[in-house]
Amino acid sequence: MEYTEMETQIHAMDISCPPPEEEPARQYYFIKKVRQHICQKEQEKGRKLTCHIKTFGCQMNARDSEKILGILTVMGYEESDTEQADLVLYNTCTVRENANLKVYGRLGQLKKFKERNPEMLTILCGCMMQEPDVISRIKKSYRNVDIIFGTHNIFKLAELLAMRLFEPDAKRMIIDIWKDTTEIVEELPNARKYSFKGGVNIMFGCNNFCSYCIVPYVRGRERSREPEDIVEEIRSMVQDGVVEIMLLGQNVNSYGKTLEHPITFAELLRQVEEIPGLQRIRFMTSHPKDLSDELIEVMGQSDKICKHLHLPLQSGSSRLLKIMNRHYTKEDYLELVDKIRSKNPDISLTTDIIVGFPGETEEDFAETLDVVERVGYDSAFTFIYSKRTGTPAASMEEQVPEEVVKERFDRLLDKVQVLAAERAGQAVGTVENVLVEEVNGQDTTLMTGRTEKNYVVHFPGDESLIGQIIPVKICESKGFYYIGESIGDSK
Ligand code: 5AD
Ligand code: SF4
Repeated sequence: MEYTEMETQIHAMDISCPPPEEEPARQYYFIKKVRQHICQKEQEKGRKLTCHIKTFGCQMNARDSEKILGILTVMGYEESDTEQADLVLYNTCTVRENANLKVYGRLGQLKKFKERNPEMLTILCGCMMQEPDVISRIKKSYRNVDIIFGTHNIFKLAELLAMRLFEPDAKRMIIDIWKDTTEIVEELPNARKYSFKGGVNIMFGCNNFCSYCIVPYVRGRERSREPEDIVEEIRSMVQDGVVEIMLLGQNVNSYGKTLEHPITFAELLRQVEEIPGLQRIRFMTSHPKDLSDELIEVMGQSDKICKHLHLPLQSGSSRLLKIMNRHYTKEDYLELVDKIRSKNPDISLTTDIIVGFPGETEEDFAETLDVVERVGYDSAFTFIYSKRTGTPAASMEEQVPEEVVKERFDRLLDKVQVLAAERAGQAVGTVENVLVEEVNGQDTTLMTGRTEKNYVVHFPGDESLIGQIIPVKICESKGFYYIGESIGDSK
């Protein structure tokens, strides 16, 4: 929906009546109510009210935070980069334990800010909030929190805020966590961090239940958006100047299975490819077990789908992969990589690897190193196994001692970095098309962009290039980024 169309609908809401039942009209009603309140507060304080969103975790959360900012902005908040704002929201992650610890640490600090600004609102949402133990701890130790919601009901933010602000009987802390739902509410206010690239959710949740992973418990069952809604969203992004999109899902390869009229991910890609003006398509994440020949074919033929595939390995040991519930063996994975490279020889491959899964032996770990060597990843995210309560792996015996895990982790990182640097070096002297993203943070005479293979490149240039895809000569490789020089007109 056009922004102005939504504004008209918000404007037309009669907030002296009870709120409508249906979505998104119900949220427009609450947006209007909160907006009036914020206007009043602005007059009282003689300044705009500010909001600060801190996002932890993955691309899905980053996208959710954009939607949240969209709702807050439409209500009248101005984004601020400090946590001493009128409204502070943490969009949390819980994939690994240390993400949770960070949130508790910061919440303690927020208490002090609230003492200085008693009207300050503290809001928590995201994956960590879907865990009952977390909610009990916050209720007990962090009474400064005003609103908590989860991963399924982001669209209700305006309603929850209205409840907190206008219902005197409402409890001090409003908690609204949905266990699971198939509901996907479209057409809400929506902000985007970049004007030239953006993430697009194509599905939510995960049905895979890898035995170490908490995501299926906190993000719920897999559900796909209708292809028409996805294509329409991208079309309108392209009209607004977007040239690159990233299709987002926990396992994009199983896209479409739950739709009333099922379609495959490859079919969706074909539809997206046809959108005029769109230049680059990325997607993540792909589960190796569901990566079809059809998708490999489409990727090989397309000149819009970027030559980059993120293909989480997790472990190179077939024995551990079975216990992890991954549904592929080491050999299956290597065969798949061969197949992908036979259609797309130049593709960049990246991965996720977990070190120290319960029962991991030196032999298992050697298998992981072997796959890393044979595949030659362009980069890899390496993680130390983190025990997540409620997952099958948490109650497995034989948790690996910390010092053993640490030593293996360092060895893996070394290998990954050496091999990645070798691969990166191969591009030196070539010309790559680079999407120019921003002025370099350290040296403002440089611009920073990304190649099709998702490598970062810094090169001399000016701000006018932002949002363009231009040819850049790769002069030097620094291992995980390049130094280059622009060689001419934009594509
Ligand atoms: N411990 C460590 N890493 C994990 N991941 C998921 N769960 C855990 C865990 N319990 C990693 C996986 C996944 C990535 C997003 O996070 O490698 O692909
Ligand atoms: Fe977690 Fe596995 Fe689902 Fe990825 S596919 S989110 S690792 S359960």
